[in-house]
Amino acid sequence: MQENSRWHPLATADEVAAVACQHILKSAQQAIAERGTFKLVLAGGTTPEKVYRLLAKTATDWSKWVIYYGDERCLPADHADRNSMIAQQTLLDHVPIPAEQIFTLQAELGGEAAAEQYRPIVAAALPFDMVLLGLGEDGHTASLFPGHVHDPDELVHAVYNSPKPPPKRVSISAKALSDTHELLFLVTGANKREIVKAWRSGADLPVATIQPEATLDVYIDSDAYQV
Ligand code: 6PG
Repeated sequence: MQENSRWHPLATADEVAAVACQHILKSAQQAIAERGTFKLVLAGGTTPEKVYRLLAKTATDWSKWVIYYGDERCLPADHADRNSMIAQQTLLDHVPIPAEQIFTLQAELGGEAAAEQYRPIVAAALPFDMVLLGLGEDGHTASLFPGHVHDPDELVHAVYNSPKPPPKRVSISAKALSDTHELLFLVTGANKREIVKAWRSGADLPVATIQPEATLDVYIDSDAYQV
């Protein structure tokens, strides 16, 4: 477990969302004041939805937010299971972030083409201001899965044979996800309890390859966290 990780156990998933939302807003304000923009990488999956819905109701200088995706599923652009569709429905369709500041992973092009298209976008963005990530029951994060081998120097990977459907995905790499001022994990639910224990005990998992130089904050509910 990373030395500079800060664990924030909270009673419920709603509390995790509320506290994480406030952290994101505070970091956005600071990034905008110091660097003029807030470059945020969104997490996929279902856990972040509560945070996105809360963010959508807040007041911040949205004109300075720049959005990236940590990963995307190779599905049609309007498919309900796309991480971009979930982010649009819960946040991006409700706040005035300029469209040219939302960098969608064009996973409908297929893994290789989408990864190639996104690499220069990520290269120009680094370091990110904040990266949001979830945690899978097998220790994956973004679309970095156990047993998958990638070129460690790549900024964006094409992913095949994902154990979590769909099989084809695109993922920002551990190297690029770690190149950020701040990194937040959002972990809730009893189904994550075992993998959290393994992670904390130092197991060799994709989530453990995310090693930002700065702090790493884990917002976690009581269902997923066991002291
Ligand atoms: C995805 C996500 C994936 C997700 C974890 C946790 O595309 O599925 O990027 O890494 O964050 O699988 O998913 P839940 O939040 O739905 O448990």
